[in-house]
Amino acid sequence: MTRMSLAAALAFACGTALAQGKAADLERGKYLVEGVMACGHCHAARVNGERKPALGLAGGIALPEPTYRAFAPNITPDPETGIGKWSDAELGRAIREGIRPDGSVIGPPMPFDSYRAISDDDLRAIVVYLRAQPAVRNDVPKSVYPEQLKPYGPPLAKVSGPDPRDRIATGKYLVELAHCMGCHTPRDEKGMALKQFTGAGGQLLKRPYGDSLSRNLTPHESGLRDWTQAQFAAALRENVSPQGIKYKPVMPTAAYGTIADADIAAMLAYLRSLPPLPFGGR
Ligand code: HEC
Ligand code: HEC
Repeated sequence: MTRMSLAAALAFACGTALAQGKAADLERGKYLVEGVMACGHCHAARVNGERKPALGLAGGIALPEPTYRAFAPNITPDPETGIGKWSDAELGRAIREGIRPDGSVIGPPMPFDSYRAISDDDLRAIVVYLRAQPAVRNDVPKSVYPEQLKPYGPPLAKVSGPDPRDRIATGKYLVELAHCMGCHTPRDEKGMALKQFTGAGGQLLKRPYGDSLSRNLTPHESGLRDWTQAQFAAALRENVSPQGIKYKPVMPTAAYGTIADADIAAMLAYLRSLPPLPFGGR
């Protein structure tokens, strides 16, 4: 009898710990998917360009580029048209390494250069959050790429996150997950990132509402040298410049708007640690 109640008490305690772990994962997963990582910028279902919250991340929008025609897939747990039949491990591998359960490679513009850095803990949280969303049926057309896609690197075993006490490393990790440099690093004529000019801006972004050039995020005078943290936060979270002017809506402001103060501070600390480069790097 005593042993029984001990076992029952243990099971209860473990159950509570599990439930707490799951709640923490759900919260972290939501913060990453809907906030820092802005998955909905591409994967949200839209009707006439407007995001429909009830349809969640059911995909469907075309993301055309000069060299390919991509469609954002349905990543809700619908078994037929979404990721409902994938195991947690399969879903995690798709997000971090760009390999589907059938072995095929997932194409751009999903930013796998950045996502290979996702830590094991954050990947688990993202998967838990996606699985907890309502299944939405939405059949999305297949993307078309001119060439066979190659894997983004060797298989990953274990990925650790940054030491939370190291602000610059934490900021670097967040800037990676938010794929800031996907837009803020200039590219060559073939569209390849000029890594030696990381963060220098000057990439041309063509959008239906007009063209814009990404800005310089390095601590150069043409970049963030004289910016306060409040100005940086307003640019990221409200899309407003220090002069109070609205930027073009290129950045996923709705998502970045939820980035916590401590994470904003860490991102800025990292950007300030970059070598100062002139606008565009040259
Ligand atoms: C910049 C746009 C973009 C962002 C941001 C993005 N994705 Fe994707 N994602 C895509 C596109 C496009 C594809 C399909 C590429 C293809 O057809 O090969 C894709 C494919 C996927 C797939 C494979 C689905 C399938 O059925 O093949 C998963 C899972 C996925 N994304 C999850 C995520 C998650 C989770 C996030 C945020 C952490 C995210 N994506 C952020 C554009 C994006
Ligand atoms: C999808 C592309 C894209 C992504 C992703 C993106 N940016 Fe931007 N960002 C831009 C563009 C384009 C502008 C300039 C818009 C304009 O000129 O109206 C800009 C402007 C800015 C500015 C204003 C700088 C100035 O000199 O006025 C800051 C700060 C900034 N981005 C930081 C970030 C950070 C930090 C991230 C990641 C968390 C990020 N951006 C992600 C495209 C992007």
